[in-house]
Amino acid sequence: MNIAVITGASSGMGKEFTTRLITENDARIGAPYDEIWIIARSEDKLISLQKALSPERIRVIPLDLTLPGSLSSLEELLSEKKPDIRLLINCAGMGRSGAFAEQSKEETHAAIALNCDALSSLTNICLPYMTGHEGPKERSATIINIASSAGFLPQPDFAVYAATKSYVISFSRAIAEELKGKGISVTCVCPGPVDTDFIKASKNDPNATFTGIKGKFVTSVDKLIPASLKAAKKGRKMLVFGISQKALHVASKLLPTSWILFFEK
Ligand SMILES: NC(=O)c1ccc[n+]([C@@H]2O[C@H](COP(=O)([O-])OP(=O)(O)OC[C@H]3O[C@@H](n4cnc5c(N)ncnc54)[C@H](OP(=O)(O)O)[C@@H]3O)[C@@H](O)[C@H]2O)c1
Repeated sequence: MNIAVITGASSGMGKEFTTRLITENDARIGAPYDEIWIIARSEDKLISLQKALSPERIRVIPLDLTLPGSLSSLEELLSEKKPDIRLLINCAGMGRSGAFAEQSKEETHAAIALNCDALSSLTNICLPYMTGHEGPKERSATIINIASSAGFLPQPDFAVYAATKSYVISFSRAIAEELKGKGISVTCVCPGPVDTDFIKASKNDPNATFTGIKGKFVTSVDKLIPASLKAAKKGRKMLVFGISQKALHVASKLLPTSWILFFEK
């Protein structure tokens, strides 16, 4: 059984990935998926998505990925079904904005647990199921990790989140090299601000929107997700989405960090 596994599927980018993979044949990467396994905490939202898209092909897996041992039920399911995982999309992510000193240790832990620990552990448990080959040149599986342009350099008032996304970029680039000869490609997606519930959750305010310079560069999932799938199909290791984020990426490599932090301020 060929499957895709998508975390963070209850809203924003993960929901858009799921929708496109089910409704658009050309969104698929490689062989057809018999099932798409979708993961998030909000079981009601996952079930609504399943009902709206495909009750037969979508399997709902409600999990809080920040809890210790949260992946054991998934490990058991994998061991029982022994699927061929063709696509893993690590999309679940969160971050609290504001001064680090004003954040609780629980908030700090949750961001690191979800953005770093869960992403790596899930990759870890999925990899043994990503080895089915159709031929020596055939790519057997794809991993898409959603990082952020916040990971290019430190971000005051978003310190933990930016640091976790640096981890995602570094981890993705490293395992992409390790897995190159095994027919598994890894694409790390680095968007700037995207119009989802993310900013509301990060500011703990249902009406929050991106403001200031970030507000000028907000993109939509309609643009980002097809571009991400296209990059993954081509086996690209990194997608920095949008001209403004590409410029930031280049600047982060060429300019001293202190200069960029000064301009950010
Ligand atoms: N939007 C942006 O501006 C932006 C920019 C760059 C990168 N990103 C990254 O893009 C990814 C997707 O974010 P988004 O913009 O689509 O935001 P979103 O709409 O808030 O989606 C976040 C997803 O993560 C899930 N999630 C949060 N906490 C979880 C937990 N403890 N366990 C399991 N799932 C959890 C949420 O589901 P539940 O609440 O149901 O658990 C939701 O499905 C994240 O990694 C984010 O860091 C976002």
